[in-house]
Amino acid sequence: MEVAGGMRKASSHASMALDPDDFDLTRLLNHRPRINVDRQRSFDERSLADLSISGTASRGGGWGGYMESYESMYSPGGGLRSFCGTPASSTRLSFEPHPLVFEAWDALRRSLVCFRGQPLGTIAAVDHSSDEVLNYDQVFVRDFVPSALAFLMNGEPEIVKNFLLKTLLLQGWEKRIDRFKLGEGAMPASFKVLKDPKRGVDRLVADFGESAIGRVAPVDSGFWWIILLRAYTKSTGDLSLAESPECQKGIRLIMNQCLAEGFDTFPTLLCADGCCMIDRRMGVYGYPIEIQALFFMALRCAVLMLKPDAAEGKETMERIATRLHALSYHMRSYFWLDFQQLNDVYRYKTEEYSHTAVNKFNVIPESIPDWVFDFMPSRGGYFVGNVSPARMDFRWFALGNFVAILASLATPEQSAAIMDLVEERWEDLIGEMPLKISFPAIEAHEWQIVTGCDPKNTRWSYHNGGSWPVLLWLLTAACVKTGRLKIARRAIELAEARLARDGWPEYYDGKLGRYVGKQARKLQTWSIAGYLVAKMMLEDPSHLGMISLEEDKAMKPVLKRSASWTV
Ligand code: GLC
Repeated sequence: MEVAGGMRKASSHASMALDPDDFDLTRLLNHRPRINVDRQRSFDERSLADLSISGTASRGGGWGGYMESYESMYSPGGGLRSFCGTPASSTRLSFEPHPLVFEAWDALRRSLVCFRGQPLGTIAAVDHSSDEVLNYDQVFVRDFVPSALAFLMNGEPEIVKNFLLKTLLLQGWEKRIDRFKLGEGAMPASFKVLKDPKRGVDRLVADFGESAIGRVAPVDSGFWWIILLRAYTKSTGDLSLAESPECQKGIRLIMNQCLAEGFDTFPTLLCADGCCMIDRRMGVYGYPIEIQALFFMALRCAVLMLKPDAAEGKETMERIATRLHALSYHMRSYFWLDFQQLNDVYRYKTEEYSHTAVNKFNVIPESIPDWVFDFMPSRGGYFVGNVSPARMDFRWFALGNFVAILASLATPEQSAAIMDLVEERWEDLIGEMPLKISFPAIEAHEWQIVTGCDPKNTRWSYHNGGSWPVLLWLLTAACVKTGRLKIARRAIELAEARLARDGWPEYYDGKLGRYVGKQARKLQTWSIAGYLVAKMMLEDPSHLGMISLEEDKAMKPVLKRSASWTV
């Protein structure tokens, strides 16, 4: 099999062992980032309006007034480098950073993994106190994202570049689970550096779902990879990595996989349960908000980074543009829930046939759970967990909603409403430790049926209504974007009161998140990195640019409910 960068033929093993001799990583790494390059023509300036769906794709222009404010917010993190745990950003500050920041940097650096002498990622947790079968010494793609952002914000882009390149090489391998061959674009959930004393070299072993508990496939990994590639490029100004043939091919492979045509009737992406941060059975199968928001953001980042000069790139860009239009319409119309919409669903007629149906998915009002009537404030709203025929999962999921704000999948009004909801339902969604991964918990018979009696996901624990400090960075980014800094400050203060004292746990349990989680790992890397990113983003809001996309005027919401067949 032909793979990027002149790598060797693929292994057909389920666990892929990567030899250092097999590829030439250094070739790409030798490009030093071009910090502060001329940003007038950066790919962020490309709008969907520039991509005629049936015609030619062009680069440049299109953001108009938006870009002015966007660009003025941009400040590359490159150039400053810290060597011994000191946050480089502190050198720019006129005040002393919180003492926890130093402790957190120290802990984050302890989670660094090296491969052939180069830092390559961070392991999921440094805690080895439990004898439970561990997979926490793996570098998880999704877990690395907040670490990567922390390093980028601190002016240390090399580790992020190494990570992006190495995972790209893993993508190139032939991946099998039993006798089934996985799609070419699939990215691993995690990988691990194995010391091989016999050969005297390190090897990488990746997991694409064949080792994971429940054999869950990480649909989010490829999306995070693309989002991170754009964050790297935006932060360093180094276009050469994203524009390299290897990265261009990597983006195209991911796009081919998620844009492949099937039997779908919706532009959303159909997934199995446990395919994302919630990687256990939790009733998130179908069209989970987390994946839809990441899908949307990855599509937008991909279309910004793909080079239209190659025929393949141009074709992919056109497919992305088509999908983005349909996806934003679908999500903004059908996943959105506020007081008015809830009242509309409550009064829905059912069994409507034909194109004029208002209740398109035939949602039966009796399926609306009682809690949502009390939970819904008069001011505020959110994207529900899932929508498909006769199904609306009314649960709140934090990650999907905040990514929707960052990607501008949410309109400015919807973004403000999500932040209003957080404020109005502070006890429920933030409680004593930010913040709830999902709300509310499922209990009793429903828990038995939906989770398959999962003892890890009991009510108000872990994925089932547990509180995850890592989500603090997403909350803070959403606050910065919507100008609601007070919310972020309050949440960060809560985290600061407990996080370090409790040993940076992975998650907290209980309705208010008061208790360190039942099986929570300590020194959980993304809890540490999430805190650092939140702090740095508040101190220097211009960091937001690397992880946020402004609204594309070409994707104006069309809110006429029964018009999707004609638009
Ligand atoms: C748990 C989380 C998952 C995370 C992994 C490593 O499985 O559910 O999101 O990536 O731990 O921290």
